[in-house]
Amino acid sequence: MHNTILFCLFFFLPAAQPITSKLDEGWWAYKDVVQGSFVPVPSFWGLVNSAWNLCAIGKRQSPIDIETSHMIFDPYLTPLRLNTGGHKMGGTMYNTGKHVSLRPDKAHLVNISGGPLGYSYRLEEVRIHFGSEDSQGSEHLLNGQGFPGEVQLIHYNQDLYANYSEAAKSPHGIAVVSIFIKLSENSNAFLNRMLNRDTITRINYKHDAFLLMGLNIADLYPDTTRYITYEGSITIPPCYETSTWILINKPVYVTQMQMHSLRLLSQNEPYKIFLSMSDNTRPTQPLLQRCIRTNINFSKQGRDCPNNRALRPQYRGNMKGTRRGSSGVVSA
Ligand SMILES: *[C@@H]1O[C@H](CO)[C@@H](O)[C@H](O)[C@H]1NC(C)=O
Ligand SMILES: *[C@@H]1O[C@H](CO)[C@@H](O)[C@H](O)[C@H]1NC(C)=O
Ligand SMILES: *[C@@H]1O[C@H](CO)[C@@H](O)[C@H](O)[C@H]1NC(C)=O
Repeated sequence: MHNTILFCLFFFLPAAQPITSKLDEGWWAYKDVVQGSFVPVPSFWGLVNSAWNLCAIGKRQSPIDIETSHMIFDPYLTPLRLNTGGHKMGGTMYNTGKHVSLRPDKAHLVNISGGPLGYSYRLEEVRIHFGSEDSQGSEHLLNGQGFPGEVQLIHYNQDLYANYSEAAKSPHGIAVVSIFIKLSENSNAFLNRMLNRDTITRINYKHDAFLLMGLNIADLYPDTTRYITYEGSITIPPCYETSTWILINKPVYVTQMQMHSLRLLSQNEPYKIFLSMSDNTRPTQPLLQRCIRTNINFSKQGRDCPNNRALRPQYRGNMKGTRRGSSGVVSA
């Protein structure tokens, strides 16, 4: 069946496109480009490249819609441990054409452990997803609701693997800490370093890079030990199903101005047409047989899976006027 779809797809491609030469790791997109050549959007990722077939046929894909009624309280989930060695870090911020990406330099390593993780994981990249409107932009949804954005702290298993690329395709390879972004008058201190006008405008175009020093990754973490966790995949091709996801139960905040600056970033080089980077999100994937566990003690404990405990979210993704730091994404 997939072959048929593939055949049709290639049959209708603009003529004289050398397909094979396009089968490289960057040949994918989040949305259709009105002008220019065909680039596969999420529904085609798994069909255009056999190395990416998990994107189409995988059963543990990310992101997902977190339905809080399906969460299971797991009293054995300890708090996540962040280890910076007490040092600030430097990093290079990039416009990759698809995301705002910050890669820490090798001098000051940051790792996480504990929580659902059986190993120590080293921070590889901080990645920002965001929407063209305030009601969308996060990859994960909460009871069907999106948030204006989502920060993903991508780590690899440094106990078992030499580097990110080896870990990404291997069991227990990746741990992603995910934090929803909401809008407020004040900005998270870490995100403010990345998103203030002087800094963000340095990476307006694809391949732009800008060095930042004296960053404290602990500033990015909201003040809570509560999280939601499940086993999933990386959310870009090749969609390897090697990621433990940890969604922090409080959002971080950016200003409306900073969100506006993000939306002004281009997916393209300066000499090409402006194409906003916003809505750089993969649609949610089916949960299927997986469990969503949490250390939020919202009711009597239960270790059965799946279960159907009712749980009321404290507020919705795009609701205004929530005081900074006042409440969790989900309330106990
Ligand atoms: C969870 O909350 C219930 C009710 O408040 C309490 O009785 C129980 O001890 C708590 N469990 C844990 C592991 O904290
Ligand atoms: C984790 O990071 C801390 C601080 O940089 C470091 O001391 C520790 O050795 C690291 N753990 C591993 C397993 O590398
Ligand atoms: C990652 O580690 C593997 C195994 O040690 C090695 O073969 C590969 O070249 C490394 N890749 C990068 C990008 O460093």
